[in-house]
Amino acid sequence: MGAPPRDLRPVLCIVGARPNYMKMAPLMRALGANPDVPPAVLVHTGQHYDPSMNARLFEDLQLPAPDLNLEVGSGSHAVQTAEIMRRFEPVLDAQQPSCVVIVGDVNSTLACSLVAAKKNVPVVHVEAGLRSFDRSMPEEINRVLTDQISDLLYTTERSAHANLAREGIDADKVHFVGNLMIDSLLGHKPRAVPVTRLLDDAGVRGSDQNAWQRYGVVTLHRPSNVDDLDVLRPLLRALRDASELLPLICPLHPRTRANIDRFGLSELITSPRILVFPPQGYLEMLGLMCAATAVMTDSGGIQEETTALGVPCLTLRENTERPITVDQGTNTLVGRDHESILGNLRDILSNGGKRGRVPELWDGHAGERIAAHLAGWLQRRYAPV
Ligand code: UD1
Repeated sequence: MGAPPRDLRPVLCIVGARPNYMKMAPLMRALGANPDVPPAVLVHTGQHYDPSMNARLFEDLQLPAPDLNLEVGSGSHAVQTAEIMRRFEPVLDAQQPSCVVIVGDVNSTLACSLVAAKKNVPVVHVEAGLRSFDRSMPEEINRVLTDQISDLLYTTERSAHANLAREGIDADKVHFVGNLMIDSLLGHKPRAVPVTRLLDDAGVRGSDQNAWQRYGVVTLHRPSNVDDLDVLRPLLRALRDASELLPLICPLHPRTRANIDRFGLSELITSPRILVFPPQGYLEMLGLMCAATAVMTDSGGIQEETTALGVPCLTLRENTERPITVDQGTNTLVGRDHESILGNLRDILSNGGKRGRVPELWDGHAGERIAAHLAGWLQRRYAPV
């Protein structure tokens, strides 16, 4: 493709929250390896800041330390989004990048894309076009708005193209590249930490570990599941009953932990068949998922990872923005209904559950495809006329 475009300004890559890192790490690597891409600069908004939600994952994923950290921290959606925008603007002015690359659907994604779009800096959205069609999810608002102001949209599954077309987005801007999340998963799977390490840490040692040869993994953090006592209590009751069928390992998001304590629900997760941990590193989570009999979650990323691993996943939501995990993968939407959760878990225990296939282009090479496409796009965009 010719000489490296040294005259091009840097590509400004943004991360803010935990699910961004497993996408940005392989992308930064692929951008760095492609001589036709200008240098990448990594900006962290600071949306997530706890070591367990942040620094530890950077290490696990071998993501370079951010060049800049905006240190916004927590706040209401309005405050967090506004604060990211306010702090990102001078960075954008100073860097004058050739484009801003944002991933996923967190508040940092929308905030930075808004600032860039208003300054006529091209916005590149990775994981575009996913839709849950549930506007009560903050992420859905972030997805719809970010896609509207993006100049280049990279998708993980083909259903995204129909969603974007319906919203009037020009098909020329949209490119199917596969799933960066799976680049990370396949790249790091050989380094996954075996579950016995976590059991050791929890004091389950020696022959006591036999009871954990089959186990389920639970993660819960959606505000719609954990912020309301009348939703969280029945959900935890269902999980407590599920633990009678299959012992459960639960790495708890700080939001969930805080709400369980605030609502006085700790006794629902106090059982020798439930092990509660703080948020885990990437390699621990990978180890946990690889060997799990079932995963129960409200996370978007875990729906994809379990599909790629072929592990049955029960999604504790009424909808998903990742329909391919249900249509082709191992995912089943079970909502929050007690019987639906228990019934589906019994199925998994009796017959192994849903068997799926790995979706198209979830092959570990999404980063390279994005880098190659972006290099050509930038060269065309900034070619002298
Ligand atoms: C954010 C994303 C969500 C993603 C999730 C993964 C948005 C709208 N949501 O949700 O899509 O699935 O990250 O974790 O961007 N907190 C800490 N330590 C931290 C970060 C947060 O204790 O490092 C606590 C704070 O009490 C904070 C709360 O978690 O108020 C929520 O954090 P926030 O970044 O607002 O959203 P998440 O729920 O993490």
